[in-house]
Formats: sequence, structure tokens, C-alpha cells
Amino acid sequence: MLEVQDLKTFYGKIQVLWGVSLQVQEGEIVAIVGPNGAGKTTLLNSILGLVRPTSGSVTFLGRRIDGLPSYAIAEQGISVVPESGRVFPDMNVRENLEMGAYYAWERRKEALAYVYQLFPRLKERERQLARTLSGGERQMLAIARALMSRPRLCLFDEPSYGLAPLMVREIFEIVQKIREQGVTVLLVEQNVRRALEIADRAYVLENGRICMEGECTELLESDHIRRAYLGM
Ligand SMILES: Nc1ncnc2c1ncn2[C@@H]1O[C@H](COP(=O)(O)OP(=O)(O)OP(=O)(O)O)[C@@H](O)[C@H]1O
Ligand SMILES: [Mg+2]
Repeated sequence: MLEVQDLKTFYGKIQVLWGVSLQVQEGEIVAIVGPNGAGKTTLLNSILGLVRPTSGSVTFLGRRIDGLPSYAIAEQGISVVPESGRVFPDMNVRENLEMGAYYAWERRKEALAYVYQLFPRLKERERQLARTLSGGERQMLAIARALMSRPRLCLFDEPSYGLAPLMVREIFEIVQKIREQGVTVLLVEQNVRRALEIADRAYVLENGRICMEGECTELLESDHIRRAYLGM
């Protein structure tokens, strides 16, 4: 479904991605794990057209999307739950969700019903300003907003960051549920154990390079993962 090939991305003269390649098949959950500053967000932003890679390619459903403006990439069916669940703080829940339907405006009613069924708590809080939501509710709103465009592929940038354990569990359950309902998932996570438990395959990104990849069951057994990421 998604194929990233030999992607190189710079900020000014500083190179952050050094030839990253990865693939996501339809229906998979694929995790990307790696330390702070490894380039995970930069990789997502390069896929989304928010940062321009200097070379390499991104292909989605058989079509090159690198070089397209970010709205055109969104229209192809890719959406994102940004780092730290960014939402529009001075808009209420409903307004935030409608912003997410921007590229699928005619279908926003069905989309609202779909996300409210996934997140009944958001329906109860429809008129509440986003800035008054709890951290967990805000993250749910960010996820729901990303789903409002009914994407085929959803990118998550550390959705469990800063949340208490119960909420972390809930967020990971939601990610699995979304996949069961037909949305393919590319998941960047710091919570390596949980990510490897719910994903099918994973890539380890260190210093802007993929240094390991494979089935999660194998990665969970690897010495490098156990020492560097699982504290064992
Ligand atoms: N807009 C920017 N301008 C210049 N440098 C940037 C910019 N965004 C990120 N960087 C640098 O690129 C490198 C990779 O950052 P990135 O945010 O992609 O890492 P990350 O893996 O997402 O880290 P974290 O786990 O902390 O979110 C870092 O050294 C960062 O300082
Ligand atoms: Mg990041």
C-alpha cells in the first residue's frame, strides 16, 4: 500500500534521514520505533508532504505522492494523528471533528456517526472546548479527527506519549480496533513493548537510518531491542 524508497531529508544543511526505505501492506499495523531525535517525526512529515525530501520516493496505492502538496496527499487517503495530540484548543469537540472532514465534506455526517460510535465519550462532550479536555480525551479527539476523512492509511506519532497506563491501554486498543475496521496503520511509538505487541512488523530507526526490521515477535526476542528499548 505504502512504499518509501531511499528517502533523504535535510533541514537546511543538516541531514536527518539517510536513505530510509519501508513498506506497509494493506491491513497491517507497522511500528516505527527509535530514540528521541532519530527522525521518526521527520519521516512521517516527509510521507505527508509537510517536509520535502531531497531524494527518494514515496508511493501510495501504486502512485508517486512525493512532491505533491500535503492536501493532495490527504485527499489520496492518508491522515495523521500528530505528535502530542494537537487539536484546535479554542474550538469545541464537534468543530475540531468537522475540521478533520475538510477533504470529505459531503460525507461528514456519516463520518461523525462513525467516530462517535468509536468514541462515545466525545459525543457526550460535543460542545466542550478542546482545551478543557483531559490529556487522554484530547488524544482521542486527535485520533477521531484524523478518522473524519475516512483514511485508508493512518499515521500515528506517539499516541501514548504522556498518558497514564490505563489511557495508554485504551489508546492501543483503539488502534487495533481501527485496523480491524479496515484502516491500515503506521505507528510511531516510544512505548516499544506495547507497540511491538500490537503491530505485525516494525522498523527500528536510529540516527536517520533503519537499523533493524522484521516481524514483531522476532524483534521482541532480539538482544538489541531487549537491551536498548526494553531495559532488559
Ligand atoms: N523543523 C526543523 N528544523 C531543523 N531541525 C529539525 C526540525 N525538525 C526536527 N529537526 C531535527 O531533526 C532531528 C530529528 O527530529 P525528529 O523530530 O524527526 O525526531 P523524532 O525521532 O521524532 O524524535 P522524538 O522521539 O523526540 O519525537 C532532530 O535532531 C531535530 O532537532
Ligand atoms: Mg517525534
